[in-house]
Amino acid sequence: MSKTPITVAKGDGIGPEIMDATLQVLEAAGARLDIEEIQIGESVYKSGTPTGIEPSAWDSLKRTKVFLKAPITTPQGGGFKSLNVTVRKTLGLFANVRPCVSYHPYVETNFPNMDLVIVRENEEDLYAGIEHRQTQDVVQSLKLISRPGSERICRFAFEYARANGRKKVTCMAKDNIMKMADGLFRKTFDEIGKEYPDIEQDFYIIDIGTARVADSPDDFDVIVTENLYGDIISDVAVEITGSVGLGGSCNIGTDFGMFEAVHGSAPDIAGKGIANPSGLMLGSVLMLNHIGQNDIAAKIHNAWFKTLEDGIHTGDIYDEGLSKQKVGTDDFTKAVIERLGSKPEKFKPVDYGEGGGKGLSLPPLKEKVKQKKELVGVDVFLDWEGKPDDMAGILNGATAEGLSLKIISNRGVKVWPDGQPDTFCSDHWCCRFVGQDIDNNAIIEQLSAIKEAGLDFVKTDNLYNFDGERNYSLAQGE
Ligand code: NAI
Ligand code: MG
Repeated sequence: MSKTPITVAKGDGIGPEIMDATLQVLEAAGARLDIEEIQIGESVYKSGTPTGIEPSAWDSLKRTKVFLKAPITTPQGGGFKSLNVTVRKTLGLFANVRPCVSYHPYVETNFPNMDLVIVRENEEDLYAGIEHRQTQDVVQSLKLISRPGSERICRFAFEYARANGRKKVTCMAKDNIMKMADGLFRKTFDEIGKEYPDIEQDFYIIDIGTARVADSPDDFDVIVTENLYGDIISDVAVEITGSVGLGGSCNIGTDFGMFEAVHGSAPDIAGKGIANPSGLMLGSVLMLNHIGQNDIAAKIHNAWFKTLEDGIHTGDIYDEGLSKQKVGTDDFTKAVIERLGSKPEKFKPVDYGEGGGKGLSLPPLKEKVKQKKELVGVDVFLDWEGKPDDMAGILNGATAEGLSLKIISNRGVKVWPDGQPDTFCSDHWCCRFVGQDIDNNAIIEQLSAIKEAGLDFVKTDNLYNFDGERNYSLAQGE
């Protein structure tokens, strides 16, 4: 059978140790791989490439489209962009899939039956990293949620559930507060969910949802959520399985897949030969399924289960009561290789079927129905120190034709008209001008008038109705 080309990066810290271990197991198991190695991470950052990846490395990734990646160390301090975020966005890896499974009774956990999967949106939300300091006191971080991004990740979650025999998909967001952004995510989940009547569906607000995962993880099956929430809840979920060192994860896009361990480069134990290679080995199992080498994936996964239940444990999970033998990275790897071909007795052996793979092919995005977009005003943000009534006085004498000042708010709270004298006001003011039958010229005139009045505007956000409905938030008290 022909070999599948893949790109491998050994990373930093314990990366080279656990990658060598994983590659040994892949080879011994007969994985049909053609490996290209690239350099990424600390050494590349330090040689003056602020992205941590050489341009030539992209050629390999674009050729193979499959990336097995060891953890890397992101240097502290400004100027270095996270390589993980760069790779995810450049390759369009919109879904981060993190299975969170407990291995009772071989690994200590309060939740012996836990077996859930977090599907985290990987490209949008606050991780767009678009930030501006607009006044001396106020910094803004933009949260962007798109309709196609939400559709893709929700559909992915349902397709993943179907392909993997899972029964329920739970969506989590904070749509009671972020009615538009998280509201869009939830609405899209509900809409796409209708196409999957065979899958049970529910919704939690993210805060209580995270609490429930920490308290009763057995109630969950697949969880789909936005980028930031997914980042947090997946760490909570992996941690309570008893073992951050055992988690593998994959990042999936339409064309590319990146497979890794959940944990980082663990510099505190690097070079000591004691790291647990399980996370990356399980990442490689996800990779084998993705490229259709399901037979090899099952062979490695079953040998790994057998090693665990034989009590051969690395230091991070070693427990006198539960373990038989404490081993380093090399001996753990040898133990897995010796067990290739055997099945676990206590754990349920896995069978990923023949060929085909679990690489999901998603249907195209829904067609966009053009909506009527109507400009109805503008929020102009000002950098200013003073009293709301004084600001209103200045602005009321400086409004453009067709616009009128409706309200002034400060950090989202209405302060004029009829503000509460106790509201704390920062130097960041939002002045809402509204009007009918206006176009962008009215806004340009409004900005000119504000400048003429001697005020400093730091940004604008236009107010739109779509199909006649308001599509901007009201201030608290508006
Ligand atoms: P970490 O996951 O590297 O380590 C946390 C703790 O868990 C440490 O005590 C470590 O010794 C232990 N640990 C982690 N993996 C282990 C394993 N396989 N076997 C045994 N013990 C293990 O997280 P930390 O310390 O916050 O980050 C270290 C570096 O890793 C940072 O530079 C961070 O940016 C980077 N990092 C990289 C990631 C990636 O490349 N995907 C993900 C997370 C962090
Ligand atoms: Mg994280």
